[in-house]
Amino acid sequence: KLPIIIDTDPGIDDAMMLTLAFANEQAFDVRLVSTCSGNISQDKTNYNARSFLSYIGANVEIARGLEQPIFRELQVAEDIHGESGFGNVQFPAPTLPVSKRPAVTAMLETIMASDEKMTIVATGPLTNVAALLLAHPEVKPKIERISWMGGAAVGGNMSPSAEFNAYVDPHAVEIVFRSGIPVVMSGLDVTHKAFVTIDEAKSILAIGTEFAEKAYHLVTYYLEVMKRTPFHEENYDQVLHFHDVCAVMYLLRPELFEGQDCYVEVALEGLAAGATIVDYTNRSGKTANVHVLHSVNREEFVKEFVKAVKIISER
Ligand code: BDR
Ligand code: CA
Repeated sequence: KLPIIIDTDPGIDDAMMLTLAFANEQAFDVRLVSTCSGNISQDKTNYNARSFLSYIGANVEIARGLEQPIFRELQVAEDIHGESGFGNVQFPAPTLPVSKRPAVTAMLETIMASDEKMTIVATGPLTNVAALLLAHPEVKPKIERISWMGGAAVGGNMSPSAEFNAYVDPHAVEIVFRSGIPVVMSGLDVTHKAFVTIDEAKSILAIGTEFAEKAYHLVTYYLEVMKRTPFHEENYDQVLHFHDVCAVMYLLRPELFEGQDCYVEVALEGLAAGATIVDYTNRSGKTANVHVLHSVNREEFVKEFVKAVKIISER
């Protein structure tokens, strides 16, 4: 079993990522979930992580992360995920408590207590992970790799050239990219190919359980949002984005993805802030610091995800 820590800002696709991780208990030993501020405030991401994970019957420590990015003011995405972060869907009040340990302490102690190297899955702004690496560099040799959803080689979804998680805290991205720890980047290049069609989402609904119904309503909430975007993709009203799911799917089924080791830098200021410059032709001649994913076997990706909803539904 792969020992992992998940840092997340649930968030609709974050909840789907948690579904995949907790459905696959044979593959993952989730030792800690920490919440970052991103899609919504820290109060809300922490509450949502606890209510969602309580609902699906997970038993895991959930630690509260930092309130604000390293330098910038927090920008949330309530226009995409709804005011609560979960669109129109409600979950019962959480039974899982807030950990007494703040996220950075909980991450440090979890990593140092582990006999094996640990993997970090991060599906929001990298603030907590960067703070951990800055404050406690002794953890670096004990981290196997960081699987992050964020960035883009081409384009953006928050600004013309920046993806949301990178845009919210570019300085944190810089710290992680320069840490020397292997990083796998599931940026928009691959996540836009990891979409689910409305018909496929209906097959989730057809599972017929309360959880499947909630999952369906969560993921279809995005559709209305896409319609309000002037520069939408061609098939915008037919596809649902599952960005964060890629960060866990890569660890579960790496053979479904294709990527390349590249040198990547992040822009820190101005209109380009949060743009990840992926040197895929290696013009810079610099050593690769990130494994950048660019393609996915979409059909298998969807099958594996639907299977996860079934597993959670049967619990
Ligand atoms: C990322 O931004 C967030 O809104 C999603 O949860 C995902 O992590 C996609 O750009
Ligand atoms: Ca997220």
